[in-house]
Amino acid sequence: MKSLMMLPVALGGFALLAAAVQAGQSELVLMPWPKKVTLKGERFNLTDSFRVSVQGEADERVYTAASRFLGYLAGRTGLFFQQLYLRPEERVEHPGLILFCNRPGTLKLGEDESYRLEVRAGQITLRAETGLGILRGLETLLQLLHADEQGYYFPGISIEDEPRFPWRGLLIDVARHFMPVEVIKRNLDGMAAVKLNVLHWHLVDDQGFRVESKEFPRLHLTASDGFYYTQEQIREVIQYAADRGIRVVPEFDVPGHATSWLVAYPELGSAPGPYELERRWGIHYPALNPASEFTYAFLDRFFGEMAALFPDPYFHIGGDELEHPGGHEAKHWNENPEIQKFKQEKGLKDNAALQAYFNRRILKILTKYGKIMVGWDEILHPDMPRNILIQSWRGKEAMVRASKMGFQSILSNGYYIDLIYPAADHYLNDPLPPDIPLNKKEKQRILGGEATMWGEFVSPETIDSRIWPRTAAIAERLWSPQEINDVQDMYRRLEIIRYQLEERGLMHEKNYPMMLRRLTGYRDIEPLKTLVDVIEPVKHYRRNRLREHTSLSPLTRVVDAARPDATVAREFRRKVEQFLSEEKEPALFDELEQRLLQWQQNHERLLPMIRLSPVLWEIESLSEDLSHVAGIGLEALKAIMNRKPLPSDWKDASLQRLEQAGVPRGEAELMILSAIRRLVESASAE
Ligand code: ACM
Repeated sequence: MKSLMMLPVALGGFALLAAAVQAGQSELVLMPWPKKVTLKGERFNLTDSFRVSVQGEADERVYTAASRFLGYLAGRTGLFFQQLYLRPEERVEHPGLILFCNRPGTLKLGEDESYRLEVRAGQITLRAETGLGILRGLETLLQLLHADEQGYYFPGISIEDEPRFPWRGLLIDVARHFMPVEVIKRNLDGMAAVKLNVLHWHLVDDQGFRVESKEFPRLHLTASDGFYYTQEQIREVIQYAADRGIRVVPEFDVPGHATSWLVAYPELGSAPGPYELERRWGIHYPALNPASEFTYAFLDRFFGEMAALFPDPYFHIGGDELEHPGGHEAKHWNENPEIQKFKQEKGLKDNAALQAYFNRRILKILTKYGKIMVGWDEILHPDMPRNILIQSWRGKEAMVRASKMGFQSILSNGYYIDLIYPAADHYLNDPLPPDIPLNKKEKQRILGGEATMWGEFVSPETIDSRIWPRTAAIAERLWSPQEINDVQDMYRRLEIIRYQLEERGLMHEKNYPMMLRRLTGYRDIEPLKTLVDVIEPVKHYRRNRLREHTSLSPLTRVVDAARPDATVAREFRRKVEQFLSEEKEPALFDELEQRLLQWQQNHERLLPMIRLSPVLWEIESLSEDLSHVAGIGLEALKAIMNRKPLPSDWKDASLQRLEQAGVPRGEAELMILSAIRRLVESASAE
């Protein structure tokens, strides 16, 4: 069987890449795609004598980044470089790569990250205004490594590059499920690989308070189940991020999402308490009391402590989901007479106005500590000063409205990777599409965006597979020019980048077979993999509706092993479209037929294992359905190929069967049904 779907895995990146260069830049695997790329017909051969020299005004960040670069290069090639790390005091003779920056640059929003990369037969030069530009350029160069019969080399190329947006972030929620330091670090490495530059660390929520506070130790001691970061660990992560050109913005969600604060200090609450750490998902009522001076005095001291711990000027106060018009209400505010009286006395007409009052008080505190306040779009209110940053999550409208009102903003709506939508959806979600109703000045207020890894359904074992590789597509959207938006080309590159990201220690690939082994009780995983390769977790917020989960529920089931944007299923859907749109190519027919036969026969192979692995019982009928619908697909495929349309009652029965197969089992769903449906519809007489 010759299946193109298997190519990146079967051949590995290099063989593909080698073939690629000759074909030109449409075959390069760069992500995010640079602003300007010109291939030259030459090559720089990589040998043991490769050395790197730093020139200009560089700081330690550049030297350590160059050393890491050499380490990755040696790791990939097996070459024994004579130089493995760089030191400022060492002179380097005959460097193969010269890094030149005018100044070290500072890690701050809007710092120059541009670079120019020239690969010539004799030498590679990477020039940048700042050391941060050098870091970005080194990542591009790593992605350019090729190999062929003559060895490893970089293709001759000229690249000019700079980011489209200065704020390119990833939110990691460590409140719902705690993520140990090494999880954060490996994800910082992944972020660096695709030029993301902000880690938004969601540290506090109803389910846990994850930072050590020396001012108020009850916070981490009583409201974390023992899972929190010490301040030393926080500093270590911030340094690790800074070394990679990544800012760290902490989030302390107030006044809602506040259960954990109140477990420790019920006197901060709007209801009497006592409070218990929340184990369920969803929106909960506990909220800080905005009418109490104790609250502000407490937050002043706490934020003062955290402002000193986190050096970045941006400081996120959450502010989301206290009240949704027509949905969730601020129950604990509404039921507290003292708060209602306070609202009246201050002439605040509703809870939104009261929250704006609360936010103005917080703003004053943060300003005192030299911070710029960031919050979710609920903090957008006409009464707020314009020097805060709005993070738009409920819709792009909030971002547009914020811009028009004079607020700066970043976009997360459309980048909710926890909702398990395909990379293409996020990729095409442009913060500034050509038709956005904003003038030039208003557009400049949109600083970028953030992917959000909310933590309800991730563990340290699975989180990488929810972040990667899809976040690389978001990183490209935020870095690359708007015109770089070809979905198929994005996927072509993503299917290789996903494996390159493993080099950074990320577990999104290697944990998949590991989880399948556990699920099969350590038997042959192939039949289970055949099934799980074409299923995905249910989308949006459906998982918790199908089966209520808590923070104690296992995240080791088939639905957790299954990955978003399942490649095999996506490629099958694409091939079916291709088959239907072109003349019925025999090679494509063979490929689709082989695939369908494999699925049709799979249940028989998998069933004995399901019987012996009780954890798999919940997907037995899903496995059966895959085989059944594959049989339908085969019938349809052959009818199309042989131009022998099938009768309409066959079509009706088949579509009905497909609909049944579309019901999720174990919160997972088959992702090939739309393609089979297309085959069925095309196979039947009009
Ligand atoms: C959010 O998703 N509640 C910001």
